[in-house]
Amino acid sequence: MDKKLKFAQEQVSIYKQEQLLRFYNELDEKQKSDLLNQIASIDFDYMKKLYNQTQIKNELKTMKIDSVDYIDKYNLPSEKLNEYKKIGTEAISSGKLAVITMAGGQGTRLGHSGPKGTFDIGLDSGKSIFEILCDKFKEVQEKYGITMPWYIMTSKANNYETVDFFERNSYFNYPKNKINFFIQNEIPALDFNGKILLEEKAKISEAPNGDGGIFNALHKFNVIQDIKNQNIEWVFIGGVDNILAQIADPILIGAAIVENKEIACKTVEKAYEQEKVGVFCKKNGKIGIIEYTERTDEIASKRDKDGKFLYGDTNILCNLFNIKVLEKAKEVKLPQHTVIKKINYVDEFGKKIYPEEPNAYKFENFFFDVFEMIDDIILVRGKREEEFAPIKNAKGVDSPETAKKLYMDYFLNRLA
Ligand code: UTP
Repeated sequence: MDKKLKFAQEQVSIYKQEQLLRFYNELDEKQKSDLLNQIASIDFDYMKKLYNQTQIKNELKTMKIDSVDYIDKYNLPSEKLNEYKKIGTEAISSGKLAVITMAGGQGTRLGHSGPKGTFDIGLDSGKSIFEILCDKFKEVQEKYGITMPWYIMTSKANNYETVDFFERNSYFNYPKNKINFFIQNEIPALDFNGKILLEEKAKISEAPNGDGGIFNALHKFNVIQDIKNQNIEWVFIGGVDNILAQIADPILIGAAIVENKEIACKTVEKAYEQEKVGVFCKKNGKIGIIEYTERTDEIASKRDKDGKFLYGDTNILCNLFNIKVLEKAKEVKLPQHTVIKKINYVDEFGKKIYPEEPNAYKFENFFFDVFEMIDDIILVRGKREEEFAPIKNAKGVDSPETAKKLYMDYFLNRLA
């Protein structure tokens, strides 16, 4: 223990992070040991680099940005449509598809105390987001006679609660052995002065390393091998918070197979000029995403010859990957992005603070950065009302209320 303490003292002193040991003497032996272990696991030099990086502005200006082609699911020649549908249906019904849901995020904007997937959006049925997603798997079971495996990415902070929720709800009567969980990595959060935050007196504040953390986690937990062992070739990866995500769309899969692509991205048309969504583009010739925070007015407003937004393909985090790409992604080193978030912390007096405004830097890998490393990608544009009902904020735009309406309208239209 003495050795560990000495090491921790040296580290925090070299990197000016003395606040981490501020309450050390007040802790019991177990807490002391946990804290010292946590300090030992931190790469302080890397954290310093990440902090310095927060001061650098985005590099969009130095890139050549172009628009990107897409195919419109509802505007395909009928021959092509039928071919995609046939091939895609064959792939699903022969068990070539698995689904991954990324549910490791903190859902800070929604502000729900548990994992986002456990949230009840206010349907009469009282279904949680996870149950709504599970219904889609059951639909596939009914339609194609296939029980697709479901992998759910959690984070250290929400893994226990997530698994427990499934247990308590009997896995929504979906076969338990088809639902698997894996956990993404975490990285410390910094305040605006570069100081690592304490979540508790004895615990450093660490946050999930972004949706791009999936590529690493998939390997760490042998998910890829598990998928390969089942002869599955395609993996749909989506977020937990789009309750209209079409997890098994034969057209998306058919398009990828027929056009010989490694990734097929589902998109929907941007609703209005300043909508706060990321859109697809080409960055120096490679498919990528421009976030709304970094786009220029010209990019937001430019239209094509048909009057549609030139950069109008919204990233809805509904992407289909060939398993080979996921294997390759093991070697990929995604860039680190800085995100500004509200993070609870213990202040210098030992008082727990629940900030009203964003107060910290979090470092994340972004899922979509992987696109820039792949050549064969196809964009398939669907209809917003059939594909996209996001739950991000507690109220207003993209909230449970708007998602519930979209969800109910979708089912009413299906019945009509
Ligand atoms: P968001 O970027 O919207 O983040 O995640 P969030 O955590 O849900 O919400 P805020 O920004 O804190 O309010 C999009 C999807 O990616 C997952 C989320 O769970 C969601 O399904 N995600 C995000 C992860 O799985 N891990 C992460 O580290 C971040």
